[in-house]
This record gives sequence, structure tokens and C-alpha cells, in this order.
Amino acid sequence: MESIWSQSCEIEQRAPLPGSRKTEVAVIGAGMAGLLIASALQEAGHSVLVLEAGRIASGQTRNTTAKITSQHGLIYDKLIGTVGADKAKQYALANQGAVEQYRQIIGRQNIHCDLEETWAYVYGNDLSVLRREAEAAAGLGLPASLVEETALPFPAAGAVRFEHQAQFHPLKFLRALAEPLTIFEQTPVRKVEDHTVVTGRGRVEAEKIVFACHYPFVNVPGLYFARMHQERSYVVALRNAGPMEGMWIGAEQGENNWSFRSYHDLLLLGGGGHRTGENSKGGQYERLRKQARSWFPSSQEVAHWSAQDCITPDNIPYIGQYCPTKPDWYVATGFHKWGMTSSMVSALILRDLIEGRDNPWAEVFDPGRFDASTIPGIVSEGAHAVKGLVKRAFQIPAEQAAGIPAGHGGIVSLKGEKVGVYKDETGTLYPVDIKCPHLGCQLEWNPEERSWDCPCHGSRFDRFGNLISGPAQEGLNHG
Ligand code: FES
Repeated sequence: MESIWSQSCEIEQRAPLPGSRKTEVAVIGAGMAGLLIASALQEAGHSVLVLEAGRIASGQTRNTTAKITSQHGLIYDKLIGTVGADKAKQYALANQGAVEQYRQIIGRQNIHCDLEETWAYVYGNDLSVLRREAEAAAGLGLPASLVEETALPFPAAGAVRFEHQAQFHPLKFLRALAEPLTIFEQTPVRKVEDHTVVTGRGRVEAEKIVFACHYPFVNVPGLYFARMHQERSYVVALRNAGPMEGMWIGAEQGENNWSFRSYHDLLLLGGGGHRTGENSKGGQYERLRKQARSWFPSSQEVAHWSAQDCITPDNIPYIGQYCPTKPDWYVATGFHKWGMTSSMVSALILRDLIEGRDNPWAEVFDPGRFDASTIPGIVSEGAHAVKGLVKRAFQIPAEQAAGIPAGHGGIVSLKGEKVGVYKDETGTLYPVDIKCPHLGCQLEWNPEERSWDCPCHGSRFDRFGNLISGPAQEGLNHG
């Protein structure tokens, strides 16, 4: 099902790339990050074009809860401990600066996107932990304080409250932002070679190239697949759930971490997070619905959808130069659940780096802080896995798939090899090779969304094997 954002905002279609082009900056990806980066560079006087595999905002941007906040769970006390107070302050000020930058752009351009100033809360049951976080965040210059009363429909010891945060309609904002930009839709990038972006519709020669496509699909160099994983989470939109002031998220990770925000007369209830490829039992929407029935008995569900996030080992995004051997490539990825502010931070940092200026916040986000090439065997293992991917024809005897209920998928053994099979409501079988075309991991069936998901780096494929999202760049062998 589509998010409430997709249901309530159409963005005008753009043509595919009409042939080869030259530009100063090529941005790959027309989601929130890509368009903010393109917009910041164009405003600074650069020629920019954006290449998008699908439609504008057809990736994760339409699935966000669209909270614009520098409050990213309980992060500041931890950051001070892991990266030190200076870098923690860079992270804090970059993200609070991003909140302010949204306000300025929306005000200056008079964008009607339902922007609303509000509070962000992270709730929990351990007051001493919450107090430490409030003090750490306040010490870094953020508008943070501890409160012991919450508006939640269940008991909590308290919450860390950030003032001057915001929420909006992300697609209404992006529709306006996209207007003056040169964007080519339905133009998937096949590969990138130094200053050339190769697409099926032509080549783009660019002085600078920015990867803003959620998960960078170039494996080598960069090795981003070795230093990020993806997680999924779920949202239901409820009518008659009553107003709830502020945006809320739980401090503790796991099953009972619920997220709330309102939009007009709707309440968005989120939760059910898990690593992509680890949802073989399903039931995530049902858990949300059960909570909705218990907390808001008169509510009705009007939409449900899911989102996917890239997670780095230290929970800090990678924003900056792609890798040392490609000085003119840049990247913005690993936003965790905080895509709105991270996208804006990316725009502000990458604009400065591309213009050759220092940026006061760049250091903490520097992708060079992890050197994945030092992980033993990682490249050869990947190469080995890819070699195993050969086209084969699958013929599944009906009795092999007898245990798979109609409307579901499962894994069967065929001549000693594992094959994924989806059985539709009429009993027709759709076999696929369940070796992920990215680096060869075995895919898992996701009953919640009837998709084949990769537990390694989070690529997803629909029940027939068509690519939903990367880093894989192609669909599955259908047999
Ligand atoms: Fe990397 Fe599947 S996404 S192996």
C-alpha cells in the first residue's frame, strides 16, 4: 500500500535522459538527499543534472515519517563517549542547522508543505539514562531538557524533549524543490567510470559525481557493502486516534520501540523494525494493528507502508568524498532513521566540499573513517559469490511446492540446489534463483510484503524476481 504522502501528492513526470550530455555535477538519485544536494549546488551557480532510476522520490523518501529533527534517539551521550565532544558537537550542530535550513528554504520559497514546528521526544523507562542524554545534548548546544510527563498511551518514566523541531509533508516539499532542477527519470545508472556515468540511455560526462541513491551500488572501490546493512520498519496511519502533540520515538531498541507523529487528523504509528531479510515469520503490521486497537479502540487504519534504512556501524551517516582513489566522487548514505536532517546535512556539506571550501561539520561524517579494505577476504569472497551466478532454467515439479500455501513463497530443493518459489492464488508457480545478484547471499522470503529480501546488504526483489531496491542492480533469474 502507498504512504499517505504518495496518496496525496503527485509529482510531475520527467523525461528519461535523451542521449549523452556534459555537466559540471551529476547527482545519482532523485530522493530527498539527491534533490537537496542538486538544489544547493545549482543555487551556488553550478550546472547540475540528476539521474533517477525510477520516478522522483520513488525510493525511501515517500516512505519516511518526515520528522525534521536533530534528536536521533539516544545518541549524544554515546557520541561524546565514542567520537569525543568535538565531533559530537559537529553532529549536533549540523543536524540542528539542518532543521533551521528547512525552515529557511520553505519560508524563502514560500513552499506549501504543511510545515509545523513541534517538539521531538525520545521516551524511556530509565530516568537516569534520559537525564544523561538531556544533559549531554544540552551541553552540545541543543534545545534539550528532561520531562517526566508524556502524552503517550502507555506508561513511561519520562522523555528527553527537544524544542524547535518540525514535521512536514515530504513530497509537497520535494515537488516544489524539483521544479527548477534538471532531472531525468527512468534512467538507471549501469556503471560509473571516473568522470563518466553510463546509463542505458546515454553517457553523462561530469566533473563531479554524487552518489545519493540510498545505497551506493558500486562495490569496488568504496566497499560500502562491507560497512553498512539495511533495516526495515513499518507504519500504520490511523484516523480517530486522537491528537498527539509532538513527535515520539522509544529509547530502547527492539520490539517495543514505537514511533508517533500526527499529520492533520491522522496519527502515524510506527514500529516493528528488523534487519532486512529477517522477517520470515511476518506479522509486523499485525503487531502495529494490535497496539492500535488497544491504545486507540475507536481508530481506523487508512494506510500502511514500510521503509528501509541504511545503518552504519557507528550510526553516523557517510557524507563526503566517496573514497581516496576517486577524488571527484562524493557520497551521501547511511542515514539510519533520520533521512530528513541527514539529507539536508549532506546538501550543506557536499556543496562546500565540491566548491573547495571547508565545512565545520564535515569531519564527523567523513566516509574515510572506516577502511573496509582492511577486512580480510571481503573482496575475494564477493567476487567468488558473483561468479556462482549463472542463468539456469527452473522447472519445479508441483509436489515440490505442495507445502507452499497459495499467495506465499518458499524455498525448495531442486537437484541439490535451493530455488525460491512464489505460488499465486491460482496455484501458478514463479521460480527464481535466490542467490542475490549483488554478491550472492541467499535471499529470504518476506511474507509481509511478498518479496525476496537479502539479509546481507538489503537488496529486495518482488515475488516475481523484479528488482525493488539495491545495492543489486538487476532482478533475479526467473528461470
Ligand atoms: Fe549484497 Fe544481497 S544485497 S548480497
